[in-house]
Amino acid sequence: MNSISIPKHNWNAFLYEDKHAFVWQYGEDLLQWLNPKPGELILDLGCGTGQLTAKIAESGVEVMGIDSAATMIEKARQNYPHLRFEIADARNFQIDKLFDAVFSNATLHWIKEADAAIASIYQALKPGGRFVAEFGGKGNIQAIVQALYIAFEQIGLSNLQALNPWYFPSISEYTTLLEQQGFEVTHAILFARPTPLADGTAGIKNWIKMFGSDFLTQLSTQEQIQVIRIVEEYLKPTLYQDGNWMVDYRRIRIVAIKV
Ligand code: BEZ
Repeated sequence: MNSISIPKHNWNAFLYEDKHAFVWQYGEDLLQWLNPKPGELILDLGCGTGQLTAKIAESGVEVMGIDSAATMIEKARQNYPHLRFEIADARNFQIDKLFDAVFSNATLHWIKEADAAIASIYQALKPGGRFVAEFGGKGNIQAIVQALYIAFEQIGLSNLQALNPWYFPSISEYTTLLEQQGFEVTHAILFARPTPLADGTAGIKNWIKMFGSDFLTQLSTQEQIQVIRIVEEYLKPTLYQDGNWMVDYRRIRIVAIKV
């Protein structure tokens, strides 16, 4: 296997497993779309700490998990030592096997170079193989992004918007990219999935620390505290209910076949 390790995000595997288990818990529903069959060979792209990879393995398939973050792969190997996990980048991975299916949950919104990821996925599939994915779609976490931009402006940081690491395409945008590279798209939906966070009042702070590190690492400790406080105040009237934060997730789900 040819893998290029470019861990773009300094993922904290402990914070991920401790406070953000919803990422794979919601993803379990996507397994019904994958419908793994005994004997198949399946790739879990963006496997994180391996929970869904292990679920896929329960169906009697051979499964391999890849992720660009070394911290996540290390934890996945500890969690499931009987499964194979490798560090690899979605934009340029090459594996010396052809898969019956590539599965991906909550990863592709981190890949702005969607064309490169789609090309990697295409070459990894057998003819007739399927690509089953869910990720953030158009309008995802719009309120959070807006609150972050307002916070940056309020404390005089004008150039941080360029650091936005997220890609939330519409159905038409993503399915067009898939079709251009030879996939036939059989299912595509975009839906709102309001998502409650763990940890009461600290929920949105933990979320920003976990997923907003591209922004936060550019700030001093004092600026980080200010940004989080402004975001909390801005979002409270709309996303905070009965002691819990509810994030405005919108998901895109896709099934596409390599023809
Ligand atoms: C998502 O799952 O939609 C998501 C997670 C973290 C940051 C941005 C989006």
